[in-house]
Amino acid sequence: MSDLSLAAQAAAAENRPPAVPRHVAVVMDGNGRWARQRFMPRFFGHKQGVDALVRAVNAFADRGVQYLTVFAFSSENWKRPSEEVSGLMSLVLVAVSKYLTKLAGDGVRIRIVGDRSAVSDKLRRAWEHAEELTAGNSRITLAVAFNYGGRWDVVQACRQAIADGVPAEAVDENWLASHMALSFAPDPDLFIRTGGEMRISNFLLWQAAYSELFFTECLWPDFGEAEIDAALEAYAQRDRRFGTIRPNQVVPEGT
Ligand code: FPP
Repeated sequence: MSDLSLAAQAAAAENRPPAVPRHVAVVMDGNGRWARQRFMPRFFGHKQGVDALVRAVNAFADRGVQYLTVFAFSSENWKRPSEEVSGLMSLVLVAVSKYLTKLAGDGVRIRIVGDRSAVSDKLRRAWEHAEELTAGNSRITLAVAFNYGGRWDVVQACRQAIADGVPAEAVDENWLASHMALSFAPDPDLFIRTGGEMRISNFLLWQAAYSELFFTECLWPDFGEAEIDAALEAYAQRDRRFGTIRPNQVVPEGT
């Protein structure tokens, strides 16, 4: 067996430095607190959060990350006060019209993941336009998880199996993975949560099975290049084994 770790083997096969994660997932937490610290309404924090996201996409792309998936609106966020929910919905429309041309020109491919059935026609059309306009881009893929939940994702894949009449024995991990919202991307290598909380909050429950977790106190609007470098450096130090043992590790007989 090769002395290279599985992660290093995958990286070598793709001619990519193993220290750089191919796919980074981010829970962009802390917008509200960032605004409150400045005696501003929460919406102001979300607005700054969009700007931080546009900066982060380019910074991650410059460092060789190929997929960035961000949690923009969870299945549970509908329970927030109605003015915050409607503020977030209109913010997305404003963000698309403000930044789409720039992101498209920067080589960013945009994909939306989540349950689109509950969002307005206007927002659905804006998403479709963003996806179509950027479909030919390949510098980095930005997957925006909107009205997304990890449990919803598993359930919707199972429902597809039932609706398609797939026999139970054909529904295995590969089948499910290829019918989940992020089927176009490899599993995230690095899962970042800003804002100090240390939980996954129903984001990418299936796909993050072997992700390296990185939690930072930094509030999302402040998450800039220095914080990105710190997260990538921490990732580069991790020893990823995907449930295997270290190469050359001696396992005592009988274990
Ligand atoms: C969590 O902060 C953040 C959100 C629920 C929304 C994140 C959304 C954006 C950054 C905008 C995304 C827009 C586009 C176009 C993709 P919080 O409100 O929970 O902050 P708190 O924990 O400090 O209260």
